[in-house]
Amino acid sequence: MIENKNIIVTGAYSGIGKSIMDELVAQEGNRILAACRHAEAIQGYGDNVIPFSCDLSTQAGVDALFAKAEELFDKVDVFFCNAGAPYYERFDYEDWNRIQRIFDLNTVGHIYTYSKYLHHLNGREGRLVYTISAMGEMALPGYALYAATKFAMKGFQQAIRDETPENLKISCVYPVSTKTNFFKVGGGGIKMEPPFPVQAPEKVGKAVVKGIDKLREHIYPCPVYLPSKILMNAVPPVKKLYIKAQQGKLHRFVKRVEAEKEGIREDIKLKRILK
Ligand SMILES: NC(=O)c1ccc[n+]([C@@H]2O[C@H](COP(=O)([O-])OP(=O)(O)OC[C@H]3O[C@@H](n4cnc5c(N)ncnc54)[C@H](OP(=O)(O)O)[C@@H]3O)[C@@H](O)[C@H]2O)c1
Repeated sequence: MIENKNIIVTGAYSGIGKSIMDELVAQEGNRILAACRHAEAIQGYGDNVIPFSCDLSTQAGVDALFAKAEELFDKVDVFFCNAGAPYYERFDYEDWNRIQRIFDLNTVGHIYTYSKYLHHLNGREGRLVYTISAMGEMALPGYALYAATKFAMKGFQQAIRDETPENLKISCVYPVSTKTNFFKVGGGGIKMEPPFPVQAPEKVGKAVVKGIDKLREHIYPCPVYLPSKILMNAVPPVKKLYIKAQQGKLHRFVKRVEAEKEGIREDIKLKRILK
């Protein structure tokens, strides 16, 4: 059981982060610093949950979170580095800042958190938990930049495990599609069709906390994910079919985006005529 611990959960406002937090709150004596940009929306918990607003895609945001943690706790026992967001799109544009933004949140902030946490621990025991993604092992069309940020995290954790001192343990989580705000954020409000299979965030939260309890280094919340991965590697036509289905989803998404843009253009034309 994870009990009587000082914990940070980032991305705690919704989805997987909220489910992890709900599991931790249900166990005895945990104190949770719950971080996201809109922490005022984290309500209905008792005094053991401390909401904190910060933008974790910036150094100032991560520094502020550690400063708050050090004001509240002597030591952070477990750090769930979970905040993140996707883009879902056909990657056919030139936009340095857009590329930078997704890496700042999903990769740079998470790597910088490792350094900060290591120094915070100063030789004391702690566990850092990264929410990576199944997409950090198998990229899909529509998620080129997102998958790149998660593959980067997969590489980082692999190398750093063999460098990191004994006192800091690392666990990584690889969820498949999960019913959260992820699929609203990724499509910018335009309907996305999630890759199969799809899980409930509560299942992911339970699997994560159980995995941490068992000191697992890698946590796969979806039981069919690993067998499917083996099947796809062993039988390439199965993988081809799966990818083809995802290409179809992207194609339909791009059509919806174009239809929306066309609709907006028509609205503007109409407004000009009616002026
Ligand atoms: N859902 C999936 O299918 C899926 C699958 C695999 C992995 N994941 C990963 O799981 C993690 C959680 O995603 P989710 O699915 O639970 O999505 P979600 O419901 O959209 O949750 C994302 C959380 O991150 C916070 N956040 C976003 N940008 C932030 C920023 N700049 N600074 C601080 N907090 C920020 C959001 O709160 P605010 O908006 O208030 O900041 C929210 O609490 C992500 O790392 C995601 O890549 C998701």
